[in-house]
Amino acid sequence: MPIIKRIAVFASGNGSNAENLIKYFNDHRETAEVALVVCNRPDALAPRRAEALGVASVVMSRDQLNDPETINGVLTAHGIDFIVLAGFLLKVPEFLVDRYRGRIVNIHPALLPKFGGKGMYGRHVHEAVVAAGERETGITIHHVSEGYDEGRVIFQAAVAVSADDTPADVERKVRDLEIRHLPWVIGSVIANSDGE
Ligand code: GAR
Repeated sequence: MPIIKRIAVFASGNGSNAENLIKYFNDHRETAEVALVVCNRPDALAPRRAEALGVASVVMSRDQLNDPETINGVLTAHGIDFIVLAGFLLKVPEFLVDRYRGRIVNIHPALLPKFGGKGMYGRHVHEAVVAAGERETGITIHHVSEGYDEGRVIFQAAVAVSADDTPADVERKVRDLEIRHLPWVIGSVIANSDGE
């Protein structure tokens, strides 16, 4: 019998992907469950969405997240096997990347290697896509490594950008892709890493 993996979702703001992952794995408990939402902002919606769905959440400062004893202690206490960064805007410390290597995945709202790197998050990405006159954008789900947005790509999906699309239009299209694809991609990464 495969062991059900316990996921921590790291989110900094709205938390719509965190909520979507919680709901998906509630219906796919044979693979994994979201056991914890970690957030670095006390005013963010993400922890409240988690609590409303009966999932534990913890708000941690940047210093606490960068302190091995504190963050490792929290993840161990919740038995976390796998981490999903879903709109998490802080850099993950190297000791955590190392501990969860191959088991820590990020979603980026563009087709990496385009429009990635420091400062490229959320609406900023969609503004840059429109300003560059791109005719397509999309999502990239990738392993997390030490550099920003540089880990091995697991999955990409593209969507057309029209000449008159605003950044808000692009954001809506990209969000549709995120909601549709992130949960099953995470499920398949976990299913394929069974026994690790
Ligand atoms: C998502 O679009 C995610 O791809 C993006 O932030 C948004 C979070 O939304 N992540 C990045 O830009 C990472 N560089 P959510 O909080 O509603 O899930």
